[in-house]
Amino acid sequence: MSNQLLKGKKGIIFGALDEKSIAWKTAQHCHAHGAQLVLTNAPVALRMGEINKLAAEINAPVIGADVVNMDDLKKLFEESMNHFGGKIDFILHSIGMSLNVRKGKHYTEMDYGFNQKTLDISAMSLHRVLRTAWDMDALNEWGSVVALTYIAAQRVFPDYNEMADAKALLESVTRSFGYHYGVHKKVRVNTISQSPTRTTAGSGVKGFDGFISYAEKMSPLGNASADDCANYCVSMFSDMTRMVTMQNLFHDGGFSYTGVTQAVIEQMEK
Ligand SMILES: NC(=O)c1ccc[n+]([C@@H]2O[C@H](COP(=O)([O-])OP(=O)(O)OC[C@H]3O[C@@H](n4cnc5c(N)ncnc54)[C@H](O)[C@@H]3O)[C@@H](O)[C@H]2O)c1
Repeated sequence: MSNQLLKGKKGIIFGALDEKSIAWKTAQHCHAHGAQLVLTNAPVALRMGEINKLAAEINAPVIGADVVNMDDLKKLFEESMNHFGGKIDFILHSIGMSLNVRKGKHYTEMDYGFNQKTLDISAMSLHRVLRTAWDMDALNEWGSVVALTYIAAQRVFPDYNEMADAKALLESVTRSFGYHYGVHKKVRVNTISQSPTRTTAGSGVKGFDGFISYAEKMSPLGNASADDCANYCVSMFSDMTRMVTMQNLFHDGGFSYTGVTQAVIEQMEK
């Protein structure tokens, strides 16, 4: 049952690749709460065709955009505003890609060309999206933009590789652009720092199985699921969180503030 927290609101969801994607779940939950949506992803991801199932389920158009192509982003916002007949209330940035991880490069031997692309796709893309919206005056006052991040931005998780640096940059762009957009139009910008989650991007991290079970044992509430994350996104897009901006919000079952748990102590004593 839904409380229709997003009734009358219009949003763009970036990054629904398949039904495991956090963006996919978020689109479903936003729809259940009464929002009207546009779905977008990179043209190469759209070719998989999966997104059309979600589009039919929630009655949303799909508009392709490579997030590092400013012409694509301009077209996306133009077509979205035409579709909605007005401005946009919220955006989910659910995008991550590491070329060095994909090519099997260790952090200490990264290829800097790949690294630039990683930083552009995974972090500066948030700046590109916000700037396009700013230039086109596409967001309503009190609009809300959420990007997804991971605690490797603050603490070392060796196999997270260059994505740790990308997430640190993403969180910094969130604060810096969040300041300017807050002053300019009362638009708020936040990151949600999510537990490890079994998705295509998540499973790309080396040793992911060990990683996810360690986090489960280190979190008093256990790992937050993609559905839990979707619910948190709904609350961040709603008017219930109007004064929250420029924050990195941990959504991790308590992992970020836990030194050790009984479960981990018992494991070490075995
Ligand atoms: N899965 C996890 O463990 C976890 C934990 C914390 C944060 N996150 C973050 O959540 C977000 C969503 O990832 P996910 O886990 O749902 O995986 P996912 O693989 O389902 O989603 C990643 C998306 O990024 C899109 N993308 C990549 N390059 C793009 C480009 N150039 N233009 C447009 N879109 C592009 C992909 O097509 C895909 O839809 C990412 O930012 C990820 O880093 C994931």
